[in-house]
Amino acid sequence: MAITLFVRGLINSSIRMNDTGVFTKPGPHQYPHQWNWDSALIALGLSHFDLPRALTEIRALLSGQWQDGMLPHVVYHQTPSDYFPDPAFWQIENSPNAPRFSTSGITQPPLLATIVRRLHARQPILEFVEEIYPSLLEWHRWLHTARDADGSGLVCIIHPWESGTDDSPRWLELLAAIQPETVPEFQRGDTRYVPALERPHRAEYERFIHLIDVFRKLGYVPADLLVHSPFLVQDVLFNSILFCADEDLRALALLLNQPTDAIDVWLSRMRSSFDARFWNDQMGLYYDYDLRSERSIQVNTITTFLPLFAGVASNAQAERLINSHLTNPSEYASQDGIWYGVTTTARTEPTWESRRYWRGPVWIITNWLVLEGLQRYGYDDLADRIRQDTLHLVEVSGFREYYDARDGSGCGSENFSWSAALTLELLMAPPNAENK
Ligand code: GLC
Repeated sequence: MAITLFVRGLINSSIRMNDTGVFTKPGPHQYPHQWNWDSALIALGLSHFDLPRALTEIRALLSGQWQDGMLPHVVYHQTPSDYFPDPAFWQIENSPNAPRFSTSGITQPPLLATIVRRLHARQPILEFVEEIYPSLLEWHRWLHTARDADGSGLVCIIHPWESGTDDSPRWLELLAAIQPETVPEFQRGDTRYVPALERPHRAEYERFIHLIDVFRKLGYVPADLLVHSPFLVQDVLFNSILFCADEDLRALALLLNQPTDAIDVWLSRMRSSFDARFWNDQMGLYYDYDLRSERSIQVNTITTFLPLFAGVASNAQAERLINSHLTNPSEYASQDGIWYGVTTTARTEPTWESRRYWRGPVWIITNWLVLEGLQRYGYDDLADRIRQDTLHLVEVSGFREYYDARDGSGCGSENFSWSAALTLELLMAPPNAENK
């Protein structure tokens, strides 16, 4: 218990370090504004020692919501910084839907409804749920309409940053196929504080910026983005998180005696399309789908385990994912029996790199998503193993953004907020507890 209290104090101070009072920076220098899914997880961590501050975090994020319901991936909150892209770069004023505040023009994985439901299950916050429910509903409605490109019920992303896994090898071929005639002038800020070999390559970064240029010229009109965005993908991670969040939104609706008809339709349409679109029975893996080339993106990454988090996989699919891939020493488990957590890309992928961002390193968020999925399917021992390894990782290397998949040494930003918040969650929330 003494250890737990000690660690809790350490984590608390690490989150406090990035606290501006209104929102929490993901990292002190590298990410000086408010990020969407980071904030949801930070609120989850904060709720263990300061629930009112957790609710402030969520309110601050929702203050950046667009008039059509879109919840942006970054809310800038007029905090001066050297971050690129700066607020002006997005030119969101080109859109009639832009909010009063400076934000980015794209979204991120919708974890928020799931987190709000968990907070309420631990300590009733009915008034707060009542207050923010309309904003959550509008965001989900926007996702299910503005981002349903083919009427399948599955939603699409238009930028790798929307996947939360920016330079994942899943995007490499798609990005290489985009040949921008012009890329606006820009100065990268991300390699100022973190070594370049831990950050995305220049070629990918140029395309990230080119895509923003395409979107701002289109005035962020959702229908035009679907027609013209060179990058249009149905992503397993994004759809899994949305499916789970739709179920949690439905539970919140019931709590408030609100109708669930629209949410029921979203859920049933997603469920009926999910396997046909994503499951590859020959490999026993879930793959993303590229709507531009109308092809499955056959790259084996950690996102294949996200349907476990959502509960959309059958028991047989879960068994194959776990026995043939997750615990396979040549893919995700390490050969020497020490895991450090789950590598973000299977080692069998030729593009695997141990320290580069989403190309291989271990992230606390993905460890958490995987172990939550394992618990859901009754693989408690394996979940506990990943939990212990994750705690060991932060004990040895601190709250880093990500960790070298070979030896667990820290990479990326230091004092990373969601690494601290999720450590707190792992320590304070008993496994298999009230989460579902
Ligand atoms: C990076 C990550 C993204 C995260 C952001 C802030 O862009 O890829 O998932 O939200 O950093 O931490």
